[in-house]
Amino acid sequence: MSSLRFLQLHREDDHAVRAELAAGLAETPPRVSPKFLYDALGSRLFEAITELPEYYPTRTERLIFETHRQAIAEAVGRGRTLVDLGAGNGEKAAAWFEALAPRQYVAVDISVDHLRHALASLQQRHPGLPMLGLGVDFADSLHLPPEVGPGDRLLFYPGSSIGNFTPDQALRFLRDAHREAQGGGLLIGVDLVKDKALLDAAYDDPLQVTAAFNRNLLRRLSRLLGCDADVADFEHVAFYEPRQQRIEMHLQARRALELRWPGGHRVLAAGERIHTENSYKHTVEGFAGLLRDAGFGAVRHWTDPQHWFAVFSAAAAPA
Ligand SMILES: C[S@@+](CC[C@H](N)C(=O)[O-])C[C@H]1O[C@@H](n2cnc3c(N)ncnc32)[C@H](O)[C@@H]1O
Repeated sequence: MSSLRFLQLHREDDHAVRAELAAGLAETPPRVSPKFLYDALGSRLFEAITELPEYYPTRTERLIFETHRQAIAEAVGRGRTLVDLGAGNGEKAAAWFEALAPRQYVAVDISVDHLRHALASLQQRHPGLPMLGLGVDFADSLHLPPEVGPGDRLLFYPGSSIGNFTPDQALRFLRDAHREAQGGGLLIGVDLVKDKALLDAAYDDPLQVTAAFNRNLLRRLSRLLGCDADVADFEHVAFYEPRQQRIEMHLQARRALELRWPGGHRVLAAGERIHTENSYKHTVEGFAGLLRDAGFGAVRHWTDPQHWFAVFSAAAAPA
């Protein structure tokens, strides 16, 4: 018998989604939250990015997980409910099933269709593990519904997705995570500050897969807002901004144009940009401090030999 349940709390046809997009486009400079990068095609394009030689985060995090799997498993504990935040295809979490022996796997993602497919395939391969899919947008706050059930939880947030948040937002998110762990813990992957050339190449690859991922947002925008944005009118711009320690990703207008949608419009000059993503980089000390400020204890970390990426474990209960 299948023990897979799915709960969809996020709907893209929601009035609130249109209002959020219109409000972001009205700002100076205009912006669209990176969460809108992930429709079904965006999720697949992200998976392609993780296979690019320039995109070091995924393979570096995997190396850390593989090298230190037993030590990390001992630090975070076995038998908990494993809550995968921004699960994508769930494969990173699945690589932990044996070592962590979770009593339940909860996969949370805004990319609802992609998550449904991923979970159906994971359930076939792990029929004995109860699974719950949650189609949820946790950008503003993380609240897990009662369907997750009681008991301590291990919150898993790999891939340096925390980098999409400003440091203030990251602290708020980590406080939510601390509460939602219910006395369990957190296992999180964090990209570290490093050489600008390496970072620039990772977010602007010569094959232009990252460009496709970014420009796919224009199709999403057209679908959600009804604004008929032309992909050909925009180019992908991505660079490391060392003062703020963040990658910035933008869509830059190739010509003067106007985006029109029912109830609104936005004029863009040639060269004007829509800001679509930040990816903040951290230092080990700085991120450990954020975890402590959020209420976590027993903070530990593992890194790769080049110190490009770090994995942190932290306990939600006092050590
Ligand atoms: C950078 S990808 C990481 C995917 C996978 N966990 C990994 O490490 O390779 C970010 C994931 O978070 C999801 N996501 C982004 N914003 C979200 C939000 N506001 N609420 C829920 N999921 C979100 C995306 O759909 C995507 O699957």
